[in-house]
Order: sequence, then C-alpha cells, then structure tokens
Amino acid sequence: ENKIKVALLGLGTVGTGVYKLIHRRGDVMERTIGAELEIFRILVHSLKKERPGIDASLLTDNWQEILADDEIQIVIEVMGGIEPARTMILDALHAGKHVVTANKDLVAEYGKELLDAAEAGKCDFLFEAAVAGGIPIIRPLKQCLAGNEISEVIGIVNGTTNYILTKMFEDNMSFEEALAKATELGYAEADPTADVEGLDAGRKVAIMASIAFHSRVVFKDVYTEGITKITSKDIAYAKEFDSVIKLLGVAHNTENGIEVGVYPMLLNKDHPLASVRDSFNAVFVHGDAVDDAMFYGRGAGELPTASAVMGDIIDVARDIQYHCNGRISCTCYKELPIKDFDD
Ligand code: NAP
Ligand code: HSE
Repeated sequence: ENKIKVALLGLGTVGTGVYKLIHRRGDVMERTIGAELEIFRILVHSLKKERPGIDASLLTDNWQEILADDEIQIVIEVMGGIEPARTMILDALHAGKHVVTANKDLVAEYGKELLDAAEAGKCDFLFEAAVAGGIPIIRPLKQCLAGNEISEVIGIVNGTTNYILTKMFEDNMSFEEALAKATELGYAEADPTADVEGLDAGRKVAIMASIAFHSRVVFKDVYTEGITKITSKDIAYAKEFDSVIKLLGVAHNTENGIEVGVYPMLLNKDHPLASVRDSFNAVFVHGDAVDDAMFYGRGAGELPTASAVMGDIIDVARDIQYHCNGRISCTCYKELPIKDFDD
C-alpha cells in the first residue's frame, strides 16, 4: 500500500482544519499524487484537553519520538511561536523530513536559516499559509510572476484587524468587542497584540518583499503602526468623507532601496481595497510584464488557512512520489539596501 506518513505539530485552529481536510480530501490525494496521506502522529502541548472527533491514539507530547520515526516523511508545523518550533523544524530538516509551516513569525525572522537547512538536506520547506491565510500569494510571487521585475506589493494582510475595522465601521462595535469576536472565530494570534499593533502584517510584508524583490527583508526592517489608536471619532470622520480606514502593508522596490511598512490609511469607498471586508485579505502586485495583479480571499481562520497548508502538503507529497526533492526550496537572493520608511 502506497502511504505517505505525516506528523502534525499543533492541533489548534489551523491544525484542526488540516486534520479535517486531510480526511475530507483523501480521494483527491490518491488521484492526484497516487498515494494516501496518513496522519501518523499529532504533537500537542496538553494531552488532557478534550478533542472531539480526533483519534486520541495519534496524540503525543513527545517530539523526539516523532523525530526518530523514519516512516514520517512530512512534518506540518502549526503550533506557532519561535521556540520550540524553530528547533523542531531544523531537527526535522536535518533528519531529511520535508516541512510545511504556517508560522510567519518564524519565516520572517529565520527564513534564511530554515531554507538553507532545507537545501542542505534536499528537503522542501514550504510556507504558503504564512501570508494572507487562504490566498495563494507565495507561490505566485515565487513562480508564476517570476518573469517580472516586481516593484510594488501592497495589501490588507491581517484578517483580525480587517474584521475589527469592518465591525467598528458597519456595526458600531467597540474595538474590544470586535477583537473578542475575532479571537472567538480563530482569526487572532495567541497574543493578539501581534495583530492589532501591525506586527503580524509586518512579518507578512517582510516575507512577501523578500520573495518579490529577490532580496532579504526581515521583520525589523518593516515600519509598523497598528490600529489601537483608532477612535470612534476617526471612524465618524472617515464616514463623513465617504471613506474607510484600512490597515495596509506596503512594500516598494525603489532606485534607492526597499521600503517596507504597515500603517492604517484612509481610503475612499471607490478604492478597490475599501471593499475588502470582514476577515478577507487582498494583495496587489505590480510587475513590469504583468502590470497590476490582485489576489483576494479569506486571510485567516480554520479551513481557509488549512487550504493553503494542504496545497503545500500535496506539493511535497508529489515531490516525494516523483523524486524531485528540493524543487521548491531556494536560497538564491541578492542583498538590496533597505530605505528608512518615509511616512
Ligand atoms: P492555536 O489555535 O493557538 O494552536 C496551537 C496548537 O499548537 C495547539 O494545539 C497547541 O497545543 C500546540 N502547541 C503550542 N505549543 C506547543 C508546544 N510547545 N508543544 C506541542 N504543541 C504545542 O494556533 P493557530 O491559530 O492554529 O495558529 C498556528 C500557527 O498558524 C501560528 O503560527 C499562526 O500564526 C499561524 N496561522 C494562523 C492562522 C489563523 O487564522 N489562526 C492563519 C494563518 C497562519 P494544545 O492544543 O495542547 O494547547
Ligand atoms: N492572526 C492572523 C490574521 C492569522 O488575523 O491575519 C492569519 O495569518
């Protein structure tokens, strides 16, 4: 029987979505990759939590047991945070296991180290879900638009803040109430400060800029300003001018260097980004050949994020089946100067 065994690290919002999709799409997997995907182990923090609908025999809190198991070929990291996720991913890559992650904190800060480790081990290291949830944007930037000189990437790349701003505008909800709802819906980070202060969007901008501009942009290069200072007066003022407030992530490749930032902006209701509501995200890319391209979809939540993770898992499974290891991992880039962000 042809089986590809995977380990899931984390069974929270995203992990549960991946668990569901792997089971739901089993037939498609067999048809498209000619093998069955089997979740062999699930690493969690607490073995005592109630997890309805989950096969409890798969749960473990022992990472070393997963690492030592040669049958496990793909590790799916959906725990979040820097440590122990970074060490586990490096251990997995050094052991020749392919890795898929949704962890933007890690990719924005340690992307080069992880890609280097993947390349050295001839493994795949994929992270489509790390930016803009369910929207495919990493692969288009890396592959489909590779024939372009990309000069601009702009968008709404945080679902939580877009949900909060939508609720404050349309339902007169308070900031606190809207944040609580976004957390309940599984959009917010474990520490939602990262969302509301623009840090999460800043990490996503760093990842997109690195790929789009074939350079190396890390989180500390990104100017960040969140939405915590937006008051009901600001909302009323924006409405008076037929406008909305959106948290934008912006990356420009200029003659003087790369400029990257995240900040709230007043947009007229006619602007295409003004109609991006709820937890939806949208990313505009300008390339010298394609001109303008826009990507739109759910930027957070269980199944939209799991959809992006699944795409990566299927890609890796195809690599395993057709023996083209390391096809997607690539550490080639040229350092470009980073400009101070002009307000
Ligand atoms: P979450 O709901 O907080 O789930 C985290 C899971 O990881 C839990 O199952 C937890 O175990 C487990 N975990 C945490 N630390 C662990 C440790 N040291 N050892 C073993 N297991 C550990 O998080 P999430 O929202 O699914 O997010 C996961 C990742 O996806 C993050 O990197 C996040 O930024 C990213 N992401 C999330 C979304 C989204 O919409 N939520 C979208 C895109 C990307 P217990 O269940 O035992 O507590
Ligand atoms: N907390 C993130 C957001 C999850 O709201 O966009 C998706 O990356």
